[in-house]
Amino acid sequence: MKTIIRLLAGSFIILLSLIIFTSCARNSQSSGKYNSFHPGEIWLDNNGVAINAHGGGILYENGIYYWFGEHKIAGKAGNVAQVGVHCYSSRDLYNWQDEGIALAVVEDDSTHEIAKGCILERPKVIYNAKTGKYVMWFHLELKGSVYKSARCGIAVSDKVTGPYTYIHSIRPNREAWPVNVLDIHKKPYNTDANAAFTGGSLPGHPDTLNILGRDFAAGQMSRDMTLFVDDDGTAYHICASEENSTLHTSALTDDYLATAGKFSRVFVNRFMEAPAICKYNNKYYFIGSGCTGWLPNAARSAVADSIMGGWQELGNPCVGPDSALTFHSQSTFILPVAGKEGAFIFMADRWNPENAIDGRYVWLPLEFKDGRIIVQWRDEWDLSVFDK
Ligand code: DGJ
Repeated sequence: MKTIIRLLAGSFIILLSLIIFTSCARNSQSSGKYNSFHPGEIWLDNNGVAINAHGGGILYENGIYYWFGEHKIAGKAGNVAQVGVHCYSSRDLYNWQDEGIALAVVEDDSTHEIAKGCILERPKVIYNAKTGKYVMWFHLELKGSVYKSARCGIAVSDKVTGPYTYIHSIRPNREAWPVNVLDIHKKPYNTDANAAFTGGSLPGHPDTLNILGRDFAAGQMSRDMTLFVDDDGTAYHICASEENSTLHTSALTDDYLATAGKFSRVFVNRFMEAPAICKYNNKYYFIGSGCTGWLPNAARSAVADSIMGGWQELGNPCVGPDSALTFHSQSTFILPVAGKEGAFIFMADRWNPENAIDGRYVWLPLEFKDGRIIVQWRDEWDLSVFDK
């Protein structure tokens, strides 16, 4: 009888410990203590608030990752900038501390280039060792211009978390020809076809229409964009240009504050958005998307020996169920994991245009296999996947 009582008491204690452990684990997760990634699920910061950094990018410095992204608000109104660029920091990539608004939109001057209500997307921050400044670039649409401005906004700060000071916006590569310019570009552009074009899909090939020549004097269009700093410290701006038909890769000046005038046209007439780049074993890898607004489509990938061009397309890097829709998301950045050779995280946004603040983050490990890059869905994963 005593043995039965002891056994029952023992089982009760084990059960109680399990209940306490599970409830602690749940509580600690709700206060932001994670030890794994949960793609597509709500991700809480140190204050228990959902991380608000959409279309983001990450800068790594001295053991800390800094995540910069668009701060969205509830409803459809959240698709235009109401607050600015939000910054979070993390030492382990799972748990993020709110560092506040790194770049705020301007509330008291509706004519300002980054006035509240402008469109401010895909902010990326890089550090310039020569000037000691943190430099932020983002896609800017002036208030009311609804994707017609196609400009780059540039801001700087002495401190990584900000506040960033807005400098100005530009159309890149004004009065410069790309390294792979064609004869047709230097001829008068097709005014008749261009006059008929009021947005949407292009009525012809970008070279026949000569969109590049059209924008030579004013500067080239720049919508979805990313930044990439190469091993030699040269930074590049990669953006969707020529009415989204073609990507442009531009070297930046030494201070990273402007395009240097050296650029190339890549993926001509492929209509790609959401560019993200990484470098592994001396090769550059690219992931992007097609152009379907906020709706997901199949991702694209490519490899090249030079960041300026010669891309060989590798097809959709995503495999398995929902791969044709990039797991209902769109690329934003490829994050090298510090201290782990060959470890990269594919970062993507699951947009929610009806309730912008509820867009989710899809982070998945990138695999290199048979010359291709592969992204597979996982409900939950941690950085140990890179140790295998
Ligand atoms: C897709 C882009 O990748 C997003 O950043 C955003 O510009 C939407 N289009 C707007 O429709």
